[in-house]
Amino acid sequence: MAIISTAGLARTFQTRNGPVAAVRGIDLTVAPGEILGFLGPNGAGKTTTLRMLTTLLAPTGGAATVAGHNLVADPAAVRQKIGYVAQSGGVDPSETVRSELIAQARLYRLTKAEAAARTEELARDLGLTELLERRTAALSGGQRRRLDIAMGLLHRPAVLFLDEPTTGLDPGSRADLWALVRRLRDDHGTTVFLTTHYLDEADALADRLVVVDEGAVVADGAPAELKERHGCDTLQDAFLAITGRGPAPVDTAPVAV
Ligand SMILES: Nc1ncnc2c1ncn2[C@@H]1O[C@H](COP(=O)(O)OP(=O)(O)OP(=O)(O)O)[C@@H](O)[C@H]1O
Ligand SMILES: [Mg+2]
Repeated sequence: MAIISTAGLARTFQTRNGPVAAVRGIDLTVAPGEILGFLGPNGAGKTTTLRMLTTLLAPTGGAATVAGHNLVADPAAVRQKIGYVAQSGGVDPSETVRSELIAQARLYRLTKAEAAARTEELARDLGLTELLERRTAALSGGQRRRLDIAMGLLHRPAVLFLDEPTTGLDPGSRADLWALVRRLRDDHGTTVFLTTHYLDEADALADRLVVVDEGAVVADGAPAELKERHGCDTLQDAFLAITGRGPAPVDTAPVAV
């Protein structure tokens, strides 16, 4: 039984310059406990898809079920089962790390005691313990990213959506996040749906990859399968072959300054 399944999921935006078909009909399934890497070039429709799957944006076409609930008919039930870490996180700059985490936990209806304990636990897991009393405005980019991720995990979601979770993280923090994602899957059976532009990360972390381009799925398979299918040693080369964006031509013309 798939924990996420979509059929023809689509979203068109109406703009002053006419309609923009950001997502043109995506069919995909994700198995429980799978780590799915959702890849694609800038503007491919990844964030738009995630915002639909997390109920923040209504589809203009197609259907989906997430964690056993119909996305459109029962968005509230979907929201209780999922966590979402947006591409650009949203925390209140005047609050401390601890109060942000506790407020979020209370929003998810944890009791005060549970919220306090869960905050300590996640702070430990994400290396935020020393920062709990700091105002979020004073965090570095990577520290704030780690807080965003903790915010998405407070209620132990069955499905965690992460939009470019490791952008801006240093190599050590990135490795910690990979370990955390694996631990969520191994210890809690959490399904993780993540986007990344780091193909080494996708290769190392994801069980399966779905590549989208111009709002449609253009490849689907395990990292090893995609490399083999395209006769490539690296996922980077396979990705370039799949999306038709070969290596950038070497420009020998003198640069005008
Ligand atoms: N609110 C909106 N109104 C109009 N167009 C939009 C809106 N949101 C997204 N788009 C367009 O939809 C397309 C897909 O955007 P989306 O943010 O989903 O891409 P992405 O794959 O997440 O890209 P990136 O890798 O840069 O984060 C883009 O062409 C974008 O400009
Ligand atoms: Mg995006």
